[in-house]
Amino acid sequence: PPPPRRAASTTRRPPAPAFALDIDGVLLRGGATLPRAPAALRLLFDAATGAPTHPLLFLTNGGGTTEGARAATLADRLGVPVAPEQVVLSHTPLAALAAADAKAAAGNANAPPTSVLVIGGRGCADVAAGYGFGHVLAAADAARVAPSVAPFSAPPRGGPAFERADAPDVARLPVGSVLVLHDSTDWGRDTQLAMDALTAPPPAGSPPDGGNDESDGDGGGGGGGQRVRVIACNADLTFPADHARPRLAQGAFTVALCAVYAAVTGGRTLTVGRLGKPHAVQYALAGARLDAQRAALRLPPVPAIYAVGDNPYSDVAGANGAGGVWRSVLVRTGNWGGTGGRPTTGSTRRTMWWGTCTTLSPWDSR
Ligand code: G3P
Ligand code: MG
Repeated sequence: PPPPRRAASTTRRPPAPAFALDIDGVLLRGGATLPRAPAALRLLFDAATGAPTHPLLFLTNGGGTTEGARAATLADRLGVPVAPEQVVLSHTPLAALAAADAKAAAGNANAPPTSVLVIGGRGCADVAAGYGFGHVLAAADAARVAPSVAPFSAPPRGGPAFERADAPDVARLPVGSVLVLHDSTDWGRDTQLAMDALTAPPPAGSPPDGGNDESDGDGGGGGGGQRVRVIACNADLTFPADHARPRLAQGAFTVALCAVYAAVTGGRTLTVGRLGKPHAVQYALAGARLDAQRAALRLPPVPAIYAVGDNPYSDVAGANGAGGVWRSVLVRTGNWGGTGGRPTTGSTRRTMWWGTCTTLSPWDSR
């Protein structure tokens, strides 16, 4: 049996709120660290000992790297210690999906292998493989294997021939999943590759049409439906960077892909599994991580989790939607430069943004 709970040890310290801080537009802006960010963060540490006094998480829709690498650069730029477990990137929940995929594959050993096409800059395919996905193919590698797929793209420059050495073999497999892991570095090439996957004829041995329609929520399709799963990790339309006005972000690419899919297929709706803020999966993971820190700090249950962000449609909508002890705080240093009044975070706006996209149910079950 477990040892008796030592209530005194968890109530010795007074309750302290937890913080889930957005990064871009709150702590950093492009290559710059926002001037007051390091001093604000130091308030969450004991001035004498440097020990943390509050559960603290960096909850970002950024990504394209590992949590460990992001933690190291954050610590360097912000001047406070940051552990990999304190970083939740847009794609961090994918580790759980990769594990579920592996379990499903183990239970269906006769299924023909498929690849995971990863959209994002250099290193994103390695991130996906690190989560446990098999047969990972970087979009840039797909174009290196077959340059004719992207006639308007510049040939890849410098670096090793392939991001992943097994690319020539993996590229022969049918694509089973398109993973928009991070911002596309070549919208035309990546849209073409995704469309090639989505409009490819069924691979040999596939279930007959009609046996796997879109209404089952798994992103698969028969009967002329969608057979290839599409997952987009970040719905943000824009993000604050070095430019004076916010720049188009990963969500804009996915909106464009949905529009192209609808146009090419005569009006079909693309089913997209979505994660990242404002989706519930992110807040469930963040809440669990913060609670683990709370327990390690021997604090009683947190009275509030302050989610500080600069984007009404991801940071504020997500925290408000999570409910419970989550509290949203909107700053003016990034995406939202509002000069008064309250921003709209209603679902109508987000629905309009997503146009023909629909949601893959397991990732947005709220
Ligand atoms: O959407 C782009 C990404 O850079 C946003 O990051 O930290 O503001 O969630 P963050
Ligand atoms: Mg932000």
